[in-house]
Parts: sequence; C-alpha cells; structure tokens
Amino acid sequence: MRFDTLIRNGMIVTATDTYAGDVGIHNGKITATGAGLPAENAGRVIEARGRYVMPGGIDVHTHLDMPFGGTTSSDDFETGTVAAAFGGTTTLIDFAIQYKGQTLRHAFDTWMKKADGKATIDYAFHCIITDISGAQLQEMKSLVGEGVPTFKLFMAYPGVFMLDDASIFKAMGSAADSGGMICMHAENGGAIDVIVQRALAEGKRAPKYHALTRPTTAEAEATSRAIALAEMAGAPVYIVHLSCNEALEKVREARDRGLRAYAETCPQYLYLSLDDMNGPGFDGAKYVFTPPLREKWHQEKLWQGLAKDDLQVVSTDHCPFCFKEQKEMGKDDFTKIPNGGPGIEHRLSLVFNGGVHGKRFSLNRFVQLVSTAPAKLFGLYPRKGTVAAGSDADLVIFDPDEEQTISAKTHHMRVDYSMFEGTRVKGVPKVVLSRGRVVVENGKFMGKPGSGEFLRRQNPARI
Ligand code: URP
Ligand code: ZN
Ligand code: ZN
Repeated sequence: MRFDTLIRNGMIVTATDTYAGDVGIHNGKITATGAGLPAENAGRVIEARGRYVMPGGIDVHTHLDMPFGGTTSSDDFETGTVAAAFGGTTTLIDFAIQYKGQTLRHAFDTWMKKADGKATIDYAFHCIITDISGAQLQEMKSLVGEGVPTFKLFMAYPGVFMLDDASIFKAMGSAADSGGMICMHAENGGAIDVIVQRALAEGKRAPKYHALTRPTTAEAEATSRAIALAEMAGAPVYIVHLSCNEALEKVREARDRGLRAYAETCPQYLYLSLDDMNGPGFDGAKYVFTPPLREKWHQEKLWQGLAKDDLQVVSTDHCPFCFKEQKEMGKDDFTKIPNGGPGIEHRLSLVFNGGVHGKRFSLNRFVQLVSTAPAKLFGLYPRKGTVAAGSDADLVIFDPDEEQTISAKTHHMRVDYSMFEGTRVKGVPKVVLSRGRVVVENGKFMGKPGSGEFLRRQNPARI
C-alpha cells in the first residue's frame, strides 16, 4: 500500500460512525481507512491527533457572480470558493439562471464559463427556471441526463423570477418523469408585493421593512402549496432557505405522511433575528435577504428541526453584496437593497458550535447535515459526503476545541461586512483537502484557481 498522503491518528467521523484511525489517499481518492496504516512510503504524513477527520462540507445553495437587484454578487467563483475552502466546504452547488426567453442550455453554458478557470474546489449547478413557455420542459429532461438533475423555481419576486402555479406544476411533472427534483423558493410573492406597496405608500422605507413586509404566513402558505403541487405531480420537493416555524410545520406534516418533502435552513436563521435589523442608521441592510430574519424564538424551533430530521440540510444561500455601494443602492427605499447575505465561509463552525457544542445533536448528525445528506439528496454520494475507500479525498481536519471570533477583518469572502461579526464559535477547520490536494493549511490558502472540477450529478436519492 502506497499513499500520496496519509492522515494519521485522527478521529474519523462520518454520518454513522466515529472511530480512531488513519486515512490513506492515492490519486485524489481515499484508498484505505483504519488503524495503523503504513506510513513508510507515504509521500506526506499529516498528523491529526486530537482532531476530527470528516468529509468535506457540501454547500448546495450559493450564488457566485450572480447578477441580481441591479448589481452582481461580490464573490466570483475564485474568491467564493477560496472562502468556502477556508470554512471546510469542498463542494458547492451554485445556480445557473435561465432568464425569460432563453434556453436552459444557455443558462448552463453561461455559468459553466463563469466557473471555468476560477473555481478552486469542485462544483455543480442547479438551473433556475423563470420561463417555461417554450421547449424548457423537454430541456429539463436533457439536463437531468447530463448531470443537472435539480431546478430552482420561485414563488416570490413577481415580474423577475416568479412562476405561476400551472408552470410550477408542469415543471414538477417534468422532474417526476426524469427523476429530477424541484428546489423551491417558497414565499407568496403576490401577497408580499401588495404588503410592500402599502408600506412604501405609508413612507416606510428603512431596511427593517423588508422583513416586516414578508410575514411567516406567506412562507408557510407557499411551502404548503409547493408540497401540494409536488404531491399531485408525484415529484420530490426541496424547500430552500426555510426560515420559520410555520413553514417547518408544513414540511413536518408532509414528511409524517411519507411524502418526499425535504428542506434546508441556513446559519443566518439559526443565529440571527429581527432584532439585528434594528441596528444604527442603515445597518439593517446587512440582513436584507429573503425569506427575512424572524423573531428570535424561531431559532430554537429550527435547531430542533435539524435534530429531528424535519430539516435535512444546512446550506448558506451565500449571496454577498458589499454594504458600501451595493447595499447602499437602497438607502432611501428598502425594495432597492440587493437581497442576499454572505455566509459561505462559516457554515461548518456555526453548525458545529450550535449543534454539537450546544448539545442539540450528535457529531454524526452534524456531518450528515453539512455533508452526507447534501451529497445523497443532490446526487453526489458516495463520491462525495463520506470518508470511505473509493470516495474523493475531500477531507476536513477539524479542531473541535479551538475557538474563533468571526469578523470581516479576518474572513476571506470579498465583502466588507460579516453577518456574524463578533460571534465566538468553537470548532475550526484546520486542514482542508480537495481530491487529495491540501487547499488550506496553517491559515493559508494552498489551492489554485481552476483546479475545481465540474461534477455531473446522479439523480437525487430518497433519504
Ligand atoms: O435574498 C436572497 N436569498 N438572495 C438570493 C436569492 C434567493 O432567493 O435565494
Ligand atoms: Zn431563494
Ligand atoms: Zn438563494
């Protein structure tokens, strides 16, 4: 047995097991795990005593280099993937947007170009569909066959991304036929628009009104409708960025009935609340994203949802806009603030800190939420999402006891503020490997732009 790299004396953690052992790597793959693997001929030995060795994080919801709200998200595929790697994420799934009148193929080709030569970790795409008036239902099936089996639809943002129920139902039918899955932005965009117009007419223009005009009922109603449409179409549905207890209850009910209904939440909904929107001046704009922040009590409901498998995944919905110049576009009108927040870098630490140190769930559940379930649901398992012979050597050597304070002064995302500024978390990725190459070590980035590969995905598994 000869290894290019041997990770020695770690505590290997997967979604099901925790055991002391070594991990041998050859040609970018894990070739052996177990105690006492031979170190003599290893190209490099990495000591992992006192640390966890876990599969690299998989972030299934990012928006890099995305035109939105009259500007473009501030991280591109280079800066965004570097920041992801620092945080222990080794695979991401971004969104290729089909604009009205365009083919899905055009969207996919456009986003492939954005990532090419820049991505430092492996990546894949979902396709956002905003118009199915042409041949897109047929195209969906072709894309599924080419490794793009998931499609995001919007029930919000009327006039921009929103689809009507008939279109959603048709797209779900196409996904059902081909084994694909719909990822749904579930908010009742029509009702929200009326509430927004009313607020503007009353002169309510500050950032906090972005949140106050998007009630939890609008999210719960759309979640319930998305699940009902999927049930009628015989398709699985995955609710993205679920933010509140009312929507969570809809997912729980559906799952209790045995439906293939899944949902993710994001660290911002677990750590932040409406209170954060009451900061001085225009500061609330830092937290303008959709669905918005909720009252604080929802946080614990979401943590419990993660613990009980009512929620299956934590993603970031990373969609960064700089406070200066980008968020400031909405200084006099909250509807002009570009929607989105930066989060790609700290997902693992935040979930580990609140989940495992917070004693809400086990270490194995943590791995499942940030890596294994995303890999299975999005057709990447077992290539990604576990530590086993044959899997890609995407690995994180994680110190469970080291503490860090999150700050824009030290983060690697290309954005001038942090949503979690000053938050102290316990649990830090120390060494990160992407297909056997060390990409982060000793606080330094060691990877290179263009070394990330596009991943053709299988169809979503039933979990
Ligand atoms: O505000 C958000 N979430 N921006 C990104 C786009 C989306 O809806 O996911
Ligand atoms: Zn969305
Ligand atoms: Zn998003």
